Amino acid sequence: MILIVDDDPSVTTSISLLLRQSSYRTQTSSHPTAALSLINQQSFQLVILDMNFSRRTTGEEGIELLKQIKAAKPGLPVILLTAWGSIQLAVAGVRAGASDFITKPWTHQQLLQAVKTALELSAAHSTQTPNPTREKLDEQYNFKDLIGNDPKFLKLLEVIGRVAATDASVLITGESGTGKELIAEAIHRNSPRTNKAFIKVNLGGIPAQLFESEMFGHVKGAFTDARADRKGRFELADGGTIFLDEIGDLDASAQVKLLRVLQDRTYEVLGSSITRTVDIRVISATNRNLAEMVSSGHFREDLLYRLNLIAVHLPPLRERSSDIPLIANHFLTSMAKVYRRADLSISDGALKWLQSLPWPGNIRQLKHLIERTILVSGKEVLEVDDFRLPMEMEASDSHKDSLPQVGSMTLDEIEKAMILKALKHHGGNISRVAEALGMSRAALYRRFEKYGIEI
Ligand SMILES: Nc1ncnc2c1ncn2[C@@H]1O[C@H](COP(=O)(O)OP(=O)(O)OP(=O)(O)O)[C@@H](O)[C@H]1O
Ligand SMILES: [Mg+2]
Repeated sequence: MILIVDDDPSVTTSISLLLRQSSYRTQTSSHPTAALSLINQQSFQLVILDMNFSRRTTGEEGIELLKQIKAAKPGLPVILLTAWGSIQLAVAGVRAGASDFITKPWTHQQLLQAVKTALELSAAHSTQTPNPTREKLDEQYNFKDLIGNDPKFLKLLEVIGRVAATDASVLITGESGTGKELIAEAIHRNSPRTNKAFIKVNLGGIPAQLFESEMFGHVKGAFTDARADRKGRFELADGGTIFLDEIGDLDASAQVKLLRVLQDRTYEVLGSSITRTVDIRVISATNRNLAEMVSSGHFREDLLYRLNLIAVHLPPLRERSSDIPLIANHFLTSMAKVYRRADLSISDGALKWLQSLPWPGNIRQLKHLIERTILVSGKEVLEVDDFRLPMEMEASDSHKDSLPQVGSMTLDEIEKAMILKALKHHGGNISRVAEALGMSRAALYRRFEKYGIEI
């Protein structure tokens, strides 16, 4: 049973009708006090709550009611309805415990999808087992390439297995090399969208001025270089999953554009005025701390809440060191195949030693080390000493050429980082920075704009 709370009977009636057509059972209430006593008496699966409850207030009444609902029934999901202009209210609502929000005017499809997701998620939460075993998870899901038995990791797999079935947006955080991309792929693979597209977008790699054309596509002639129509990433992902990688690298204007399409699943192709609708599941990832970026004003809070209906944090490898032997042997076996060295193994002592290292580059670093060691040592049983040399090579490599690892940064990111470094070095003196970087002041200013550098 779903409870719909709004003081406007036309709203409650129309939502109620819509939900009943989709075979949900509903009840309506037009007053906060009445709603609260209903919630205390009956067991609802979901509440849909209008935040502009009394037309005379600023929504505080709505927040107040929401807090009371969450106090009475902490596990009961609440979806808020807010006006587009009062997005701040939605943000305050999510902080107070709402599970999702929809801004007016909403489409039937949007409302139904939000209701479906909220119900599926709460069902997923309530059936979670406290200590899932690897065997059990492998029976239920396909996590074949995700190695690990650490209890924290298994818990995480269980969460992603359950939410995979829903359309909920998932935000994956964690240090570089912890497996964020692999997890994103696993969510898609275990979802009903598995036979549809999985489109990966590295947002850190898209220059600000190309953002719309990349994401939404363009029609021929939309701008000087648009010689032919081009499909955007959202269109390519239609029906499937879009993976927004490095989401923390978006500048302010791209954040607004993304918010809109995530909000109402509509967008316009550049150069065309026709509004398109898209059916996508959104997974995003970053190794930055978005909550901190929100506090410092570099990331929109409303966008964060659109992305993180489910937040998954991957632990660094050093915090699941019990998995290191398993993962190391996994890489050893797969590389033994590649290099036709079936006889290879790692000694127990070496495995212990590997477990004691800090692994700033996490699983990716472990993988590289194993590969290097196999190539360098030529021995059958790899001992601690066999790992030391490749390890030092890696360390001195990163010392000698201070360039970051291939694949870890785009040219744009390097350019931005270099500009910031030069700015710091020259105390913000633009002429000297331009000279040091070998470009004109005008060219430097264009890059400030491109990278959102404020001086
Ligand atoms: N649980 C795991 N089992 C086996 N291999 C893994 C696991 N997690 C990650 N890997 C491997 O480690 C490498 C890094 O993983 P991935 O690219 O998903 O990391 P990431 O978190 O996206 O890193 P970055 O933040 O740098 O983009 C890949 O080669 C991946 O296959
Ligand atoms: Mg990645």
